[in-house]
Amino acid sequence: MTPKYAHLLDRTVRYHEAGAGRALILIHAFPLSADQWLPQLHRVPPGWRFIAPDVRGFRGIGQAYQDVGLDNARMASHAADVLSLMGHLDIDRAVVGGLSMGGYIALAVAMVAARRLDGLVLADTKATADNEAGRAAREAMIALVTAKGPEAVADMMLPKLLGETSHRDQPELADAVRTLVLRNTAEAIASAVRAMKLREDATAWISGLTCPTLVICGAEDALTPPADSTAMAAAIPGAELVILPGAGHLSNLEAPMAFTEALGRFLGRIS
Ligand code: MLT
Repeated sequence: MTPKYAHLLDRTVRYHEAGAGRALILIHAFPLSADQWLPQLHRVPPGWRFIAPDVRGFRGIGQAYQDVGLDNARMASHAADVLSLMGHLDIDRAVVGGLSMGGYIALAVAMVAARRLDGLVLADTKATADNEAGRAAREAMIALVTAKGPEAVADMMLPKLLGETSHRDQPELADAVRTLVLRNTAEAIASAVRAMKLREDATAWISGLTCPTLVICGAEDALTPPADSTAMAAAIPGAELVILPGAGHLSNLEAPMAFTEALGRFLGRIS
């Protein structure tokens, strides 16, 4: 799929787009890129337009362009980026979905622009903020990527990004994910880690969400275990919970058919 580019006022965004109709924005996990969503972009249901942007700093194959605003990026900056892209594409309302870090960003969009949401998809993510140990681990990862580069982060994260079943039955997936990780710079990775470390706790306000919400999670997710998704779904009024067997943290890549079907069923119910 050939990526597209949005030249916004202050920055360029690479994104993928497929289908036509109502918009679903899909935001990727750390430390990947919009390419994570290719399985879903290849199976867009009729009447829907899927748009998957790179989070600020992250990138897949495509044109080179300057990264800006990595030093002080916060979840609110990433949410503003999503809203700017929607403005650029003339999209007033959309379903916004994200996996893991993408879910944190989707929640940040919901916090500031709930009226622009037709729905929310929260995949392999959580509403809680980092605790003290989590924040210390973020600092260690910033030090690691600064000293040793993206390869060291890939080595550290890969065992946990995929579930046991994928490691056993789809060994090629680990290489594909590593390739996505290694396209990113140390600066982009460090910036995203800082933003995740400083993200706010959303548990207090998600009970006020009124849009249709799908919470989806791999049964073997070791990074954001199903218990987190179960708690989040219980807290969001009317949220639907889908646990995908045989999938880990990157559930949309590990169980692409089941993920896409669950997504399609959810979108089909949005009026
Ligand atoms: C992700 O997959 O986006 C990250 O694991 C999220 C996190 O580290 O909190």
